[in-house]
Amino acid sequence: MNNYRVTTATLQQRKKTKTPITMLTAYDYSMARLLDAAQVDMILVGDSLGNVVLGYDSTLPVTMEDMIHHGKAVCRGAKYSFVVVDMPFMSYQVSPEEALRNAGRIMKETGAQAVKLEGGQAVVEAVRKMVVAGIPVVGHLGLTPQSVNQLGGFKVQGRDAQTAQQLIADAKALSDAGVTAITLECVPAKLAAKITAVVRVPTIGIGAGNVCDGQVLVVNDMLGMYADFTPKFVKQFADLKTVMLSAVEAYKVAVVQRTFPAEEHGFAIGDESFGKTIRRES
Ligand code: KIV
Repeated sequence: MNNYRVTTATLQQRKKTKTPITMLTAYDYSMARLLDAAQVDMILVGDSLGNVVLGYDSTLPVTMEDMIHHGKAVCRGAKYSFVVVDMPFMSYQVSPEEALRNAGRIMKETGAQAVKLEGGQAVVEAVRKMVVAGIPVVGHLGLTPQSVNQLGGFKVQGRDAQTAQQLIADAKALSDAGVTAITLECVPAKLAAKITAVVRVPTIGIGAGNVCDGQVLVVNDMLGMYADFTPKFVKQFADLKTVMLSAVEAYKVAVVQRTFPAEEHGFAIGDESFGKTIRRES
C-alpha cells in the first residue's frame, strides 16, 4: 500500500512549481474516503458544517465539540489528503493562549494535519504561538463568514483601495507569522493575484478568480447537494440532489409495491431447521 500523504512541504513545492492545489470540504468519513480516493490534496473540515450539515444560517453557532466530532470522522477516512480543521467562532478570538489551547485540542483529538482560522493582523499573535508549538495553521482572509455581522452580509471584500491595501498587509502578516497557506474568499481576482505574488505561502481561492495557487469549494455545493443557497462562485460539477431525490423516490415506490427487498436481499433458513422451530413453537 502507498503510504504517501500530502504535507506542508508538498504544498510549498506546489507553489514553487506553480502546480495548482486542490481542496474540498468534507464533514464525514464516507466523503473523506471519496475525496481521498480522488487524491484531492487538501480536505477542509470547514465550519460551513454549520450551514450544510447542521442547518444553521451562519457558522457562528458551531462549537469546538462539533468540529472535533466531524474532524475525527474525516481523519479516519483520509490517508492521502492533508486535513485541515476549522477553528470555530470564539475558540481563538479571546486570547492567543486560549487559541493555542484549542488548536492543540483539535490536533490531539482529531488527528488533523492543520487548523484554520479567520482574520489577519488580529490573529497573528495566536498564529505565532501555534507555529512555535508545531501546529500548521491555514489563514483565511477576504470574506470571513464568522465576521458576517460586522461585514454587513456575505459580500465581496477588498473592492476599494483601503480594504485592498489592508488585505495585502494582512496576508503578508500571516505569511510572516508562519502560516502554511492562506484561503482567500470572495476577493477580486486582480487583488488575489497581487496577494499570491507577495506572500511566500500558497493561496487557496474561493470566489477569488483563477489566479491563486489552489482552489477550494464546499463539497455539497460543487456536487449539487445543497440547494438552500448557491453562491455565484460555485460551479456545480454534478446534480446529485436530483440523482438522490429520484433514488429515494424509487426506494419508496419499491417498498410500497413490495418489490424491495427481493429474495437476494434476504437470508435463508434450511427447511429442516425451520421445521424444528415451527414444531417447538406449536
Ligand atoms: O468553512 C468553510 O467551508 C470554509 C471555506 C468556504 C473556505 O472556510
